[in-house]
Amino acid sequence: MKTRRFHIFFRFFSVFILLFSFSCSNPETKEYTIGFAQTGVNDEWRRAMNQSMKIQTSLYSNVELIILDGEDNIENQIQDIEELIAKDVDVLIVSPVKSQPITPIVEKAFNKGIPVLIVDRKTEGQNYTAYLGGDNYQVGVDAANYLASLSNERKKVVEIRGLSGSSPALERSMGFKNTIEKNDNLEIVKSIEGNWESYSIKDSLGKVLNEIEDIDYVFAHNDRMVLGAWEVAKEKNLHNKIGFVGVDGLPGENGGIKLVQDNVLLATILYPTGGDEAIRLAMKILNGESVPKNNLLETTVIDFRNADIMWNQFNKINQQQQDILKQQSTIDKQEETYSSQTNILKLLLGLLITSILLGAYSIYSGYNIKKQKRALELQNKKITIQRNQIKKIAEKVKISNEAKVNFFTGLSHEFKTPITLILSSVESLSDNKLIRDNKLVQEVGLIYNNSKRLLRLINQLLDFRKIEDRKFVLKASETNLFDFSNIVFKDFEREAQKRNISFSINCNNKNLKVYLDRNLMDKVYFNLLSNAFKFTPNNGSISIDIKDDFESNYVTIHFKDSGIGIPNQEINNVFKAFYQGTNNNKSSSGIGLHLSKEFIDLHKGTIEVFSKHGAEFVLTLYKGNAHLSSDEIIYLPDVVDSAVLSFNVDYEEDIFNQDAVLNDDERYSILIIEDNPDLVKYLKGKLTQEYSVHVSNGSNGVEMALGLIPDIIICDVNLPDKTGFEICDILKKDLRTSHIPTIILTALNDKESYIKGLESGADLYLTKPFSFAILSQSIKTLIYNREKLRYYFVNNVHNMDVSSNFGTIEQEFISKVNKIINDNIDNAKFSVENLASHLNVSRIQLYRKMKAIMDVNVSDYIQNIRLEKAKNMLQDTTLTISEIAYATGFSSPNYFSTSFKNKFNKSPKAFRE
Ligand code: FRU
Repeated sequence: MKTRRFHIFFRFFSVFILLFSFSCSNPETKEYTIGFAQTGVNDEWRRAMNQSMKIQTSLYSNVELIILDGEDNIENQIQDIEELIAKDVDVLIVSPVKSQPITPIVEKAFNKGIPVLIVDRKTEGQNYTAYLGGDNYQVGVDAANYLASLSNERKKVVEIRGLSGSSPALERSMGFKNTIEKNDNLEIVKSIEGNWESYSIKDSLGKVLNEIEDIDYVFAHNDRMVLGAWEVAKEKNLHNKIGFVGVDGLPGENGGIKLVQDNVLLATILYPTGGDEAIRLAMKILNGESVPKNNLLETTVIDFRNADIMWNQFNKINQQQQDILKQQSTIDKQEETYSSQTNILKLLLGLLITSILLGAYSIYSGYNIKKQKRALELQNKKITIQRNQIKKIAEKVKISNEAKVNFFTGLSHEFKTPITLILSSVESLSDNKLIRDNKLVQEVGLIYNNSKRLLRLINQLLDFRKIEDRKFVLKASETNLFDFSNIVFKDFEREAQKRNISFSINCNNKNLKVYLDRNLMDKVYFNLLSNAFKFTPNNGSISIDIKDDFESNYVTIHFKDSGIGIPNQEINNVFKAFYQGTNNNKSSSGIGLHLSKEFIDLHKGTIEVFSKHGAEFVLTLYKGNAHLSSDEIIYLPDVVDSAVLSFNVDYEEDIFNQDAVLNDDERYSILIIEDNPDLVKYLKGKLTQEYSVHVSNGSNGVEMALGLIPDIIICDVNLPDKTGFEICDILKKDLRTSHIPTIILTALNDKESYIKGLESGADLYLTKPFSFAILSQSIKTLIYNREKLRYYFVNNVHNMDVSSNFGTIEQEFISKVNKIINDNIDNAKFSVENLASHLNVSRIQLYRKMKAIMDVNVSDYIQNIRLEKAKNMLQDTTLTISEIAYATGFSSPNYFSTSFKNKFNKSPKAFRE
């Protein structure tokens, strides 16, 4: 579009330039050129000739005149004529220096078709268009007749001729001689040869004057030579005795007319230059008119009788010529003005036309643009309609897709619980002696492995969905990298042994800890190792190499195998979702490596793959936790602290320790709040061996917890009455149950639910499917931690008062208990019931709370405080033992003494001494 417009504009511009250049065309460019090869310009006659030619030419506006100066030299003149021929002049005018040598070049021009006009002096032959000049023969005749007319006596005449070889010299001499011969009174006593210039005759004339006496007349072929002769005669004082006659009769200070007026000459024969005539003739030739071959100009004698008239006439002519020149220059100026005005006019006209054209073009393009705009608007409307339709379709597709994906995701979630149960049941089956004995263990193993595989696939699909929805939040905890890797390594050791694969793990820093989301990193490890085992043939090798780069802030983990490797051209694709290598003929979902990369990205690490004799995957992870945000960091006991050493428990292993069955009282009690009867059944079956298990289906979870004050609570989230989060929140805020460790066990594994769980005060958040081993270990760890806390409370019981802000509800509770007891320390009737009612709890709840957090009997605890106080009083006061016994709430001094001795192994009396 743009190019087309530019093209059109360019056209306008060209038209404009054309008009402009046309309007500014050089007015000097003439139609005709007349070339004149002049003999030379050293004398007045030649200059006058040139001048009259110029004046005459100026009358023709279409003619250019070029005059070349031959400097009276034959060679020069030949060159000049060549130049004019080369210039292709329309008419060539030549005044030859001499006749014969100039003839060939003139003929050359003539033969080329250039009209040639010979002036003044002639060439030989007839090969020219026309001749123009004074009648030189007549000049000679006139001179002789004039001298003859002067006297009847016999007179001696000396003739001074012009340049020999030039036609005027020859013809003038002939006319003169022929006429003198006819006259008896005149005798040519000497004829001297000159070259038209005065210096050329001075010597020879001097000699003649010396030799011949009484010379009466000197006739020279031009005025310059005759003046030279007069000067020679003057030197000899003969100038008054001799009469001088010259030729040319030029006006002006040095001209012949003036010499006549000054009585230097008797006469001068007019020899007109014919410059104006020559141009006129040339114009005729140019106009195609026929011209006579010979054009002779009139001549006349100028002597004292007509010199003045001639002088005046010439002056007048001169004056007129000057006027003509002035007028000419005025005309020229006017022409120039006219021409520049014409140019401006043309330019303006050009601009006008251009602007009209541009205006027309802009109207045209405006119309076109409007048309296009309308078409575009129409198209736009169509596109908008189509876009809206597409949008609607896309929305429908999105909704239907979303529905499908949600259905699919929901279904996948639904799969998880039954598969978990299958796995758990198979775990149990594998323990069953009957099965082991019946050699059904292989089949059970098959069921277990395939269920696990199914579960892994479902998990991968759910992870993929979560990654797609950007729902993953890293939960990284400080982890010993070697120990962590070693756990996964151990999972694959059996397969390596079975297939005789050399399988090794190496680490150059076994103490190195890094921040890992163990759950995600386990999946990465599992995926990389599964792939390695999948593609490595039996008897091959697989290695894990952990290299701590001590110099830098990162560690690399290399998974190397001797498998089929990855074709080079595909290496960049392996991390793309659903990608299947061309050399991979094993079944694969194509999302394992994609997920691995996404998980490593979440760790801000990198995963690279190299393939040369097998494949090598290299993970690069940062050390420390500066690269993680605070909500990506969680605390978990390190893998070594935790006895949970296997995330993927082998089905053949004994996963449950067959501990000796304990009495109900000696066991820790667990409350399971869960509405899935299968899961309840499974958990109950597993946990009953070790714990006293109580179950709530959710409807009475809080009530049961308050009634039982169990040692630990396992709670589902989606429950019929309250959610698990709500139950947990209530129990954690209640003084009676706040100390009970609570595990949330749920299928919800998104960030929001995890945060909700933590907010509700849950101590642990486990997602389904869960490993029973992890659950079992978690229960143990939580109970152990609770024991530790109890130990702390027991040992700091006296340091805890209301002011010491330990921040937990338990600390506050103990401080409260201590204060109530201390306030009533002298009250012998102050009982456990009194304490419970002060605390607003039942006696049994108080009993369980105290047992749970300090493992003490409440009455013992009260007694203990009384005795500690008495001990202090024995040390610090002078009160009697009886007084102290009553002051610390003992009903009798005897009872006080016995109790004191039981506790401190000394009687109060002995203690004081
Ligand atoms: C000028 C001149 C004239 C003479 C003519 C003859 O150069 O010498 O004086 O009349 O040439 O060609």
